[in-house]
Amino acid sequence: MIVPTRTLFEHAYGKYALGAYNINNLEQSMGLFQGCLDSQAPFIIQISKGARSYTDKRMLEAIIRTADEIFPDSLFAVHLDHGDEQTCYDCIDSGFYSSVMIDASHHEFAENVAITKRVVEAAHAKGISVEAELGMLGGVEEDIKVDEKNARLTDPDEAYEFVKQTGCDSLACAIGTSHGAYKFAGSQGIHFERVAEIQKRLPGFPLVMHGSSSVPQEEVEAINAAGGAMKGARGVDVNQYLPAAKLGVCKVNIDTDGRLVWTRVHREFFRDKPAEFDLRAPGKVFMAEYAKFIASRNNYLGSAGNLKAAREHALAVA
Ligand code: G3H
Ligand code: 13P
Ligand code: ZN
Repeated sequence: MIVPTRTLFEHAYGKYALGAYNINNLEQSMGLFQGCLDSQAPFIIQISKGARSYTDKRMLEAIIRTADEIFPDSLFAVHLDHGDEQTCYDCIDSGFYSSVMIDASHHEFAENVAITKRVVEAAHAKGISVEAELGMLGGVEEDIKVDEKNARLTDPDEAYEFVKQTGCDSLACAIGTSHGAYKFAGSQGIHFERVAEIQKRLPGFPLVMHGSSSVPQEEVEAINAAGGAMKGARGVDVNQYLPAAKLGVCKVNIDTDGRLVWTRVHREFFRDKPAEFDLRAPGKVFMAEYAKFIASRNNYLGSAGNLKAAREHALAVA
């Protein structure tokens, strides 16, 4: 069942975080729904601009609607990940999305406010909620590259002003993580003191953590052992998800880890079965492995086991 993003946040706030998983194709979708059902977790499906144009934006919508029928017990929201203004309007008008993210964080504060405000107005007119971003994560977002030097943690006072001026419903904060498979060179991690300061300025307001993949070292090693070249890939400690959730982080974005599972499964499959050419054979392995991965992440996020209670909440506020 597709529910409003805000309904999921209301249930999760301060207790657990929702896994927000990117999808690009049907194999990821099937693994995602199965893993969330196995772990009895509500979740968020995210679609990036790149995912919308990989085949055709209608293809992912059709996959999600069908998955909802195949897994009638599922409870989830559909979210546009890292949208520009025009893509936000397109998703708002489509009537399919529960929420959109306007990412104008690369603009100056005033311009970020102005763009976000316009999107909030259009989205709220249709009952859709808006995630905005303030601060600069490192790594790659869509076609914008931010080098580590220019990555800037979110300022708590600015965050307060930004939310007040824009009316956005959740805020993606730069708190030390970055996108992709190479997040940390040394012993860096989430800046918890910064999250706590932001929560103090915005009590009860849903915060979002981007760049949350854990880049499991066993996946990286298996990829490299099967012909890959991913030296030095490092991610977020999964044991930090729940402490972040307790500080108001309701949504934890995970994309890279899914790509690693896909890469490991396919590299190993074709290494071990060089004569094979049926795409469904590794596809089946991937769906099962991805479901296992999703269930394990939902356990770390604390969303596992919350499906029934979240559904009751969703029905009560509908
Ligand atoms: O933060 C970006 C997400 O991982 C989406 O990646 O734009 O390559 O689909 P993508
Ligand atoms: P990762 O690259 O860490 O998976 O982050 C994904 C993300 O933030 C999507 O918006
Ligand atoms: Zn992101």
